Amino acid sequence: MPFTIAHVSDLHLSEFGDTFHDRLRIVSRSARIASTDEARFETAWSEAGWRVLRERGKRRSKVALIDPDGYAHGVPSLKESGGLHDPVERAAAKACRLEARRATTLARHLPSNGAARQMWEATPRNSNVRLLRAAPVIGEVDAVLVTGDITDDGFGYELVEAVFDRYRKAGRLWAVPGNHDLFLFPLRGSGRPRHTHESKRNAWRAFATRIGLELDPSGGWFRHEPDASLFVIGLDSCVRQRRFYRHNGYVGPEQIAFIRRVAERPEFKASTHRLVALHHHVVPLPHGVGRRAPPEIGMRLDDAREVAELLDRIGVTAVLHGHRHVSEQRQPAGSNFTILASPSFTLGCRSGDAPSFWRVELDAKMHASRVRVPVDAVEVDEESPEDAAEAPADDGVDGAPEDDVADDEGLSAL
Ligand SMILES: [Fe+2]
Ligand SMILES: [Fe+2]
Repeated sequence: MPFTIAHVSDLHLSEFGDTFHDRLRIVSRSARIASTDEARFETAWSEAGWRVLRERGKRRSKVALIDPDGYAHGVPSLKESGGLHDPVERAAAKACRLEARRATTLARHLPSNGAARQMWEATPRNSNVRLLRAAPVIGEVDAVLVTGDITDDGFGYELVEAVFDRYRKAGRLWAVPGNHDLFLFPLRGSGRPRHTHESKRNAWRAFATRIGLELDPSGGWFRHEPDASLFVIGLDSCVRQRRFYRHNGYVGPEQIAFIRRVAERPEFKASTHRLVALHHHVVPLPHGVGRRAPPEIGMRLDDAREVAELLDRIGVTAVLHGHRHVSEQRQPAGSNFTILASPSFTLGCRSGDAPSFWRVELDAKMHASRVRVPVDAVEVDEESPEDAAEAPADDGVDGAPEDDVADDEGLSAL
């Protein structure tokens, strides 16, 4: 029996399932905790920590929707809600829709496949829901490997743990971080409060610990599966965020030293399959048949050449990555390793193809087959944030303008 790995990537999970790749549907909420002064506002509806508030004593008062963390969300208009007249009902319906798709809610009680399908029909672009739709396609494997962009902006790790719980418990849920997990974005997301570099790194490290990875101080980790003659090295290709070219990756000298040390281990040398997982790609990839590899300013791995040469020298058999949302298997010229690029398991492939993953079978040889998830790809904005972040001028992470639903005046603006 071969040892099988599901190589998935770029889940882009988030608190409510919105992603930077789908900016139209970002869940806007107030920048600060909304003021909910009881003398001025009465609670018209509440459930699971969500509240719909109405200003007291006004005949045609407007209502506000407040989430469990105290941030205000916009109330859908009559038209947006499909003709619901009562604004309280409109707000409550939105609260229910958001709450049902929250990573924490879904992780607490994973919906059945049928329930997940219904949620997907109502909100087909929601990445949290799309993970639930995609996961059953994996079927029976021995390990799940996620090559980064686990989250869209550092929130939602609990959902991947819940979905792949049996692999986590067996020590067979392996992951490396991506730029979305560790870098900061100059764009508005739904996360409140916003992450810092430190809080993002802490969230990743806490997740890595919960799934049983022992991170070396350099950021790397390794696993040995003697029965499968398999050795896996996981690398953090996001050890620094550059001021310009903001989403370029970097493995860095400390991890290069770590790779060298690990390669000296007898179990590494003795393994038939020596896999390396990292988020960024070591060679540029076209987006599909007949297309050229796009320019990659702001996307590439800064020390790709050095890393690729080292991996080849120590006899790595396969390099597995994500990041470009492109599905490709290749044997790059001048090297001996195979590359497996996995697209987004939730959003799909840049070629327009459906989401997919690589089912990697290891026995005497490695055999990888592409398994598609039978849902449409989400058309990602060609000017995706990762590309937009190429612009060197855009460096104002914390000074980014906020066009949120409720401003600093909180409910008084309603
Ligand atoms: Fe990604
Ligand atoms: Fe990425």
